[in-house]
Amino acid sequence: MINVGIVGLGFMGKMHFRCYKAMKGVRVAAICDSDTSKFKDTAGTAGNIAGAEKPLDFTGIGLYNDFGKMLAETRLDAVSITLPTYLHCQYTLKALKAGLNVMCEKPMAMTVAECQKMVDAAAKSKKILQVGHCIRFWPEYAYVKKIVDSGKYGKVRAATFQRLSLTPVWSWQNWILTGPKSGGASLDLHIHDSDYVQYLFGLPKEVSSRAVQGPSKDYDHIVTSYLYNDGKVITAEGGWMMTPGFGFEMSFNIILEKATISYDCTKTPAFKIAPAKGKVITPTVAAGDGHSLELAHFIKAVSGKKTPDIITPADSLNSVKIVLAEKKSASTGKKAVIK
Ligand SMILES: NC(=O)c1ccc[n+]([C@@H]2O[C@H](COP(=O)([O-])OP(=O)(O)OC[C@H]3O[C@@H](n4cnc5c(N)ncnc54)[C@H](O)[C@@H]3O)[C@@H](O)[C@H]2O)c1
Repeated sequence: MINVGIVGLGFMGKMHFRCYKAMKGVRVAAICDSDTSKFKDTAGTAGNIAGAEKPLDFTGIGLYNDFGKMLAETRLDAVSITLPTYLHCQYTLKALKAGLNVMCEKPMAMTVAECQKMVDAAAKSKKILQVGHCIRFWPEYAYVKKIVDSGKYGKVRAATFQRLSLTPVWSWQNWILTGPKSGGASLDLHIHDSDYVQYLFGLPKEVSSRAVQGPSKDYDHIVTSYLYNDGKVITAEGGWMMTPGFGFEMSFNIILEKATISYDCTKTPAFKIAPAKGKVITPTVAAGDGHSLELAHFIKAVSGKKTPDIITPADSLNSVKIVLAEKKSASTGKKAVIK
């Protein structure tokens, strides 16, 4: 049995709780939240996971408002850090020092220096540090990674990715809409696609971005070109300035030499491959969603089982590095080099 703790019982803490509860061989042993009102009225606000509308059952689980106390009093193998981003580094270092494996939500941290501390601490501790880049595990995106790597449809000539959301107004003390605490939509939301671009194509040489400031007073809508030596045209657009009626869209179009692959979560069918020759295919992908699949991967690794190399702490640092370069490019109006 793997004993897991969760720190931060907000939107994502509840998501992690529901995913762990659905797994065999995993026990949520303790939860910490500095705001103890979070242990009451736990129904809803956990995304599109089935059953999320029901209240959470904390029977037999240690509930804490102090992380140090939770670590001292509970025997844990791992902890999920589902705290506001500006707390990720501090709490990850504490957990690794206490000998725990860590699943930390994305983005890894606010700065490259903080990310580097986390990478170093994980290496020193020899424990697992996985950052929540769930898109690498999202069934359609994971399928595309395999197809592109296989070369079945030739090389990618161009690709565009979108992640468009209405303004998040639910967060604890409104930290998400406080630029210095979240980094705005560019670091909080759009990083999913910057990370996926890195996963598919490696680190870009340079980025060129344009962005607008929004309710967080940071860049809340951003459009970026990721520049590679071979001339392929890769862009991503992300932001949370859509009006409530728009809802949420995550989508992509990938133009390969011998097929176009597209996905749009607002359409049915959402996912299709249009080969140059033959009929359009709507592939069957793995069941589940990126959150449950990434946590299953984490637990497998914590259990000592062999897992494919999907996301490393260094990749997670690089994703923050890419987005910070995008912001630099947006503010200078020039290309920014990724070093
Ligand atoms: N992977 C994804 O798709 C995804 C989606 C949403 C959010 N996130 C990330 O998850 C993280 C959390 O976001 P959220 O939307 O759940 O935020 P949230 O505001 O809903 O939840 C944060 C929780 O942390 C608690 N908290 C604050 N300070 C604390 C402390 N010092 N000790 C203990 N508890 C404390 C708050 O009371 C709150 O319950 C962020 O880094 C965010 O970027 C990831």
